[in-house]
Amino acid sequence: MSHDITRFLNTAWESASAAGEIIRDHWQRPGTIDYKGAIDLVTSVDRRAEQKIVDVLRHDFPDHSFLAEEDTDIQSETKEYRWIIDPLDGTTNFAHSYPHVGISIALEQNDLVILGLVYDPLRRECFRAVKGQGATLNGTPIRASAVGELNKALLATGFPYDRRENADDYLSFFKAFLTRCQGIRRAGSAALDLCYVASGRLDGFWELKLKPWDIAAGGLIVTEAGGILSDFSGEPFSVFGNETLASNGMIHDEMITVMQGLTNGQFSPTRIDCTVPE
Ligand code: IPD
Ligand code: CA
Ligand code: CA
Repeated sequence: MSHDITRFLNTAWESASAAGEIIRDHWQRPGTIDYKGAIDLVTSVDRRAEQKIVDVLRHDFPDHSFLAEEDTDIQSETKEYRWIIDPLDGTTNFAHSYPHVGISIALEQNDLVILGLVYDPLRRECFRAVKGQGATLNGTPIRASAVGELNKALLATGFPYDRRENADDYLSFFKAFLTRCQGIRRAGSAALDLCYVASGRLDGFWELKLKPWDIAAGGLIVTEAGGILSDFSGEPFSVFGNETLASNGMIHDEMITVMQGLTNGQFSPTRIDCTVPE
């Protein structure tokens, strides 16, 4: 492992564990809650955790740029390295004291994600991956599951914040999988959903309209654990894309076939309005 990657990992962990402490300290006391959209919340704890992560990373890496959910203004001109941060993935859970939240931190080098760290501060589980070096959970290597058919798969999904407007579209995917797999979970943190695919707790995951800070770290953790990431047609995945499909690899084609059945028939993805209402 190169000297730089070790430093990046150590500082990423230092920042995540400090943010985790803030989240644990405020558990069941979410602070002030603001609305970014009709049902899209941000709490004062999201902001404090983000500030802490950025401060710690910036202290060690003053030349890097940043893309962070709650203050996209901090993104400076694009440099060789850019940190992509979601300080609290699962804000709705947090606001309701539903114990399932993650902190997601990724590092890109020239637009390629080279490091991903997702920390669940309540279970104290730290998932991480370095490009080309595998993925771990609390230091132990993880692998995606070996479930070979959709019929036996446990899947997860989430619903974008414009779900009141586009519920039928999202439910058409949900119904198609519900009738073909063993079960579906909607736990409320896309970053942890991806890590659960990486560690074999889930076999597949899909969601529309996720943001780079939701998926950059978890995406690398999936592929480094032997899983596969793509869009809903099997085309290459992008953290700036509209569609996230992750799986253990073994059920990927089956999942794509289900999605293509929908997109070729009752459902047209071009109908989806990508803007989140105010
Ligand atoms: C949300 C969570 C949720 C997903 C939403 C995301 P936030 O992130 O990841 O699981 O369904 O699409 O926006 O707002 O809690 O950081
Ligand atoms: Ca998020
Ligand atoms: Ca968030």
